[in-house]
Amino acid sequence: MVSAIFPAAGQGRRMHAGCNKVFLELAGEPILVRTLRQFSQVKEIGELIVVAGAGEEDDVRAMLTNAEARARFAPWRVVTGGSERQYSVWNGLKVSSPGADVVLVHDAARPLIRPEVIEHVIARARCTGGAIAAMPSKDTVKVVDAQNCVTATPDRRTLWCVQTPQGFRRDLLIAANEKAMADHFLGTDDASLVERLGAPVEVVEGGYENIKVTTPGDLIIAEALLSSFQPPSQRGEGRTAAGGVEGSRNA
Ligand code: CTP
Ligand code: MG
Repeated sequence: MVSAIFPAAGQGRRMHAGCNKVFLELAGEPILVRTLRQFSQVKEIGELIVVAGAGEEDDVRAMLTNAEARARFAPWRVVTGGSERQYSVWNGLKVSSPGADVVLVHDAARPLIRPEVIEHVIARARCTGGAIAAMPSKDTVKVVDAQNCVTATPDRRTLWCVQTPQGFRRDLLIAANEKAMADHFLGTDDASLVERLGAPVEVVEGGYENIKVTTPGDLIIAEALLSSFQPPSQRGEGRTAAGGVEGSRNA
């Protein structure tokens, strides 16, 4: 069984919408709802853990319950996030089922993730211990010093731009988070915590469409990408079984 954790407790400052960006609609449906729909198409995923901002938990529950009138999600629950994404993920990880062999972490703000990528990350995480979606860098990347002078040009063939989902064996991700906390290390992604343990992490091809909706312009790009996106109905209309603890209670 696979658990999926969705950090959704940010403030969306760069979106300048006056609210958490994951509540914003994309072609008529909230970003967070779209993200959960994509994961609900993957049969192996047994629980969805949404990490909501403090004070936004009930709004998230209401949004998901409303959306389930159209199609059920995989069993879901809502927990409260922290001041940094890493702390939000940890709050989700703590309540994840011990029966999950693999845990996925996926930004709630990446609604265009394709189910095939999710399945690939799960399969490779089971083999390697850790697997992350990423795409080859299209641009040449420079390293610069404090004066903005270039100090190095890494070989582009070795550079991948990292996305989510990032999947890990559950025990490994717990150990990585515990070490990060003990060391007061704050990483910019989940894999960086696992890398500090010396454990291998494999890169899996994600998709250039799998953008993190961050700025107002990204909303326009995401809507354009959605129009060329495979609709959920082509893979079956989500779940018919009852949802999880919260899902079934609220439905
Ligand atoms: N996130 C979270 N807890 C935090 C910060 C971020 O769960 N303390 C989540 C966001 O909700 C988002 C994901 O992590 O789904 C990626 O973060 P980002 O794109 O930076 O979102 P925000 O932090 O909301 O945006 P901004 O940085 O512009 O304020
Ligand atoms: Mg942020």
